[in-house]
Amino acid sequence: MDKADLPRPVAQGDAARGLAVVNQVGCAACHSIPDVAWPRGRSASDLAGFGARPMIAGRLPNQPDVLIRWLIDAPSLDPQTAMPPMPLSHDQARDVAAYLYSLDDD
Ligand code: HEC
Repeated sequence: MDKADLPRPVAQGDAARGLAVVNQVGCAACHSIPDVAWPRGRSASDLAGFGARPMIAGRLPNQPDVLIRWLIDAPSLDPQTAMPPMPLSHDQARDVAAYLYSLDDD
């Protein structure tokens, strides 16, 4: 995908609220996340630069609606995935998606 397509706006998503949710539910237990000093989990991918990636987990299109569903219930998109369902409301997942899309390639 062309970088000119980025960033992907998430309707009504609030990146600052999304970061708070990321801290609250503990995404960093598995993922290294630029704005989370600790923990820096290493069992899943580093989310730095995620906003510039064309795919989610290398196999799903990195689009807001897909990402929101992934965050809430990744196994519903891929039964083989090791990413567990997360206890997020749709609004929380939307804010987390806005936060993740703020992570560009630097
Ligand atoms: C128990 C560990 C664990 C937790 C907690 C977790 N994830 Fe994941 N996550 C994974 C794994 C493992 C993958 C890789 C999935 C795959 O490749 O099938 C993944 C994949 C992802 C991806 C795709 C990454 C990429 O490189 O394309 C994103 C985005 C993501 N997780 C975000 C989150 C967010 C945000 C949270 C918190 C709401 C979270 N994850 C919580 C384990 C976790």
